[in-house]
Amino acid sequence: MNYEFHNPVLVEKVLDLLVKDLGGTYVDATIGGGGHSERILQKLLPTGKLIGIDADEDAVIFSRKRFGDRVLIFRCNFSNLSDLLSDLKISRIDGILFDLGISSYQIDNAEKGFSFSKEGILDMRFDKNQFLNARYIVNNYNEAELTQIFRIYGEEKFSRRIAKEIVRQRKFNPINTTTELSGIIGNVVNKRFINKTLARVFQALRIEVNKEMDVLKKGITDALNLLRSNGRIVVISYHSLEDRIVKNIFKTYSQQNLIKILTKKPIVPEKSEIQTNPRSRSAKLRAAEKI
Ligand SMILES: C[S@@+](CC[C@H](N)C(=O)[O-])C[C@H]1O[C@@H](n2cnc3c(N)ncnc32)[C@H](O)[C@@H]1O
Repeated sequence: MNYEFHNPVLVEKVLDLLVKDLGGTYVDATIGGGGHSERILQKLLPTGKLIGIDADEDAVIFSRKRFGDRVLIFRCNFSNLSDLLSDLKISRIDGILFDLGISSYQIDNAEKGFSFSKEGILDMRFDKNQFLNARYIVNNYNEAELTQIFRIYGEEKFSRRIAKEIVRQRKFNPINTTTELSGIIGNVVNKRFINKTLARVFQALRIEVNKEMDVLKKGITDALNLLRSNGRIVVISYHSLEDRIVKNIFKTYSQQNLIKILTKKPIVPEKSEIQTNPRSRSAKLRAAEKI
């Protein structure tokens, strides 16, 4: 398991916006390889507390090794944040970070099935204990359902054509691997667009497998309710639908005078950061403070 200590995205902005009370209690809701957590820890006083969450067991094992007892780390979906904190007898937090999506480690690890360019079983689950995986979706959802997923989550213009071809091909043989799926999509999409189309279709499947839009709504809402007065939430998203969800929830809470929005427009990485850290290119950061 090699996280290679990738640069955390927009890290200086995160530190600046998130950590105000240096002795407070913070949550990294997507700890991954711990890039952001490392820097948060450096900023906190020894009296400060950091709790890390990830749905992926590999991330939990890696980060536990990295941080030892300096961070309390749990394998948990952030949609279960309230229950987790209640079990820990923590009723209020001073800050929470969501750095959504997948880590470079997850993309690079062929076994996880996230990457169209690496041969692996079509899996895409963050949490290996859940039933639904990408293989089930491509072999069982009907044409209309597949079209809808590719169109809405992938914003893919050839959605219908791709869904139709998947349904036609799976009658001969089940579609088990990333490369089988890429080949099927390649049958109906021009070579000129193929990489972008594959990226969109694979992303759409990942979002459906992990129900990412639903868990995001629940996670952000719970987090806002758990924040102490003056506590901060920072969310980095990589997909326009995710960003819209965050924007709309913040708007609703701010209209009810429950939070103050700290980022009128989302913060995006500078060109120099994108050059050194290409993963950051679609990142959008929004932050808010509890009133
Ligand atoms: C972009 S990575 C985080 C990288 C991390 N900030 C770092 O600096 O190393 C996103 C992580 O969030 C996890 N994740 C995604 N959705 C999740 C969810 N609903 N609940 C818990 N973890 C989730 C993924 O497994 C992945 O490890």
